[in-house]
Amino acid sequence: MRFVITAGPTREHIDPVRFLSNPSTGRMGFAVARAAVERGHEVVLVAGPVALKTPKGVARVDVTSAREMLSAVEGALADANCARATAVFVATAAVADWRPAETAGKKLKKRDMTGVLRLVRNPDILKTVKCERKIGFAAETDNVLAEAARKCREKGLAMVVANDVTEKGAGFGVATNRVTFFRRDGSAERLPLMSKLAVARRIVRFAETLA
Ligand code: CTP
Repeated sequence: MRFVITAGPTREHIDPVRFLSNPSTGRMGFAVARAAVERGHEVVLVAGPVALKTPKGVARVDVTSAREMLSAVEGALADANCARATAVFVATAAVADWRPAETAGKKLKKRDMTGVLRLVRNPDILKTVKCERKIGFAAETDNVLAEAARKCREKGLAMVVANDVTEKGAGFGVATNRVTFFRRDGSAERLPLMSKLAVARRIVRFAETLA
């Protein structure tokens, strides 16, 4: 199978030295990439700005913004179709939902800043891309299962990996995660606290059942 995976944050620049972003480190996505290679799959990893080493055997495409991430994913999925590979899209990236309406080409001077930043919506990559096998994440602070069910339906997913980021060991930048697999058929499987690599291996095994 060909796995196309997004990882890390995106950056939405205000000017060359300022941007909007979030604390995602990319660990979960890199773990999925490693787990998929271990199982002999082809992997394209589309990564936002992160400080992680590329797992062996993974083709990595570096991007900055959400729009760049979307076009890299669409390119990788189109290639998979050309190669007649069974494509799976796994979206782990913490994509910025909004970007500044304008990006200044030169550094803005504080004397010229009004204090108002006009924002426009970014594309929802997971919802937009056409792929029969999509797996998404839902990082929530409350109503975890209801939100997972909604995202599964609205984004046309085979599975949502839901986690409560307020739980110990399940947030940004840690090596562990505590997730619930919420599948298209309505079944929910709550996994114990485990390493992100162990979660990633379970995700890859599930993806293989979609082939
Ligand atoms: N996602 C994406 N593109 C976006 C936003 C999210 O591909 N612009 C993907 C994430 O990679 C994740 C899933 O969608 O797999 C859920 O993201 P999340 O931010 O939890 O959900 P949102 O759709 O932004 O919903 P809400 O703000 O209502 O929680």
